[in-house]
Amino acid sequence: MRFKVTVVGAGNVGATTAQRIFEKGYADVVLVDVVEDMPQGKALDMMESAPILGTDGTVTGTNGYTETAGSDVVVITAGIARKPGMSRDDLLFTNMKIVGSVTEQVAKHSPNAVLVVVSNPLDAMVQHAKAVSGFPKERVVGMAGILDTARFRTFLAMEMNVSVTNVQAYVLGGHGDSMVPLIGTTTVGGVPVSTLIEASRLEEIVQRTRDGGAEIVGLLKTGSAYYAPSAAAAQMVEAILLDRKEILPCAAYLEGEYGINGLYAGVPVKLGAGGVEQVIEVELTAAEKAALMKSADAVKELVKVMASQG
Ligand code: NAI
Ligand code: 2OP
Repeated sequence: MRFKVTVVGAGNVGATTAQRIFEKGYADVVLVDVVEDMPQGKALDMMESAPILGTDGTVTGTNGYTETAGSDVVVITAGIARKPGMSRDDLLFTNMKIVGSVTEQVAKHSPNAVLVVVSNPLDAMVQHAKAVSGFPKERVVGMAGILDTARFRTFLAMEMNVSVTNVQAYVLGGHGDSMVPLIGTTTVGGVPVSTLIEASRLEEIVQRTRDGGAEIVGLLKTGSAYYAPSAAAAQMVEAILLDRKEILPCAAYLEGEYGINGLYAGVPVKLGAGGVEQVIEVELTAAEKAALMKSADAVKELVKVMASQG
């Protein structure tokens, strides 16, 4: 029997995530959107690629939730995306309503699923999804750290002209301007990056990472990134479905870890069949610790604003 994965939001990130999972062949995918016929059309198009790819599995497009019942994992990408000049936080109220209504439906139809939230502003949306679903913290997780870390690793590999697979790094904190690319634990081929790239250049790479989403928005002009984001979401889905117990930076609900309490923040977690099976505490420098707290404060602010909206 194959796994069942629902992706809500059949836009750029959602459809590409569905495609990536479908092409693996281990899951039946349900693609949901409010736009009439669009998820059905994208699903049929993907199904018609199966004979070429030699992929088993199905994709079903729908505007409702009946077909999603009993999903193992639900990826929530529904909402609006950034346009040039907009910050992720500008999406707060619109996406809060969308993510809230989607989560209600998802929780009703798939009460045992792990929720992977993608919609922005990410940390606030995943906090909202946890509250609305009533699911335990282990089964509500946000995607951002893998993407931010992938950008950081890409820029470092480009700088050093080495394979991205040789660059080990973490970007922690909230998915916003105050995200925290770690320098202390970043290595290239096992060598600390701070001994390979001079501090001022490293700072430029850190800043490019923080601006990574905006850089793509500026180039695309009509939307935001989706190839790397969908790869990150699909990696999380696979870690959960296949119980890979993979250590990945994700937005997890913290209860004291890293000195943060009652709040989602990007930290390394062990991701397996149970969802977030463990929060991994890596050693941070004093500056990194302070930056992480500042980033958590920015998330706290958004959560407070959401709470004031009821
Ligand atoms: P998009 O505009 O291409 O797709 C969004 C889709 O959501 C649309 O098809 C829309 O019809 C659908 N939708 C709206 N309300 C809905 C509802 N109530 N139920 C079901 N579907 C609904 O946007 P894109 O590029 O796919 O981005 C989706 C979200 O993901 C945005 O909020 C974006 O900012 C966020 N994002 C987050 C990332 C992260 O690292 N966490 C990375 C990239 C995007
Ligand atoms: C990104 O970082 C828009 O959050 C999205 O590309």
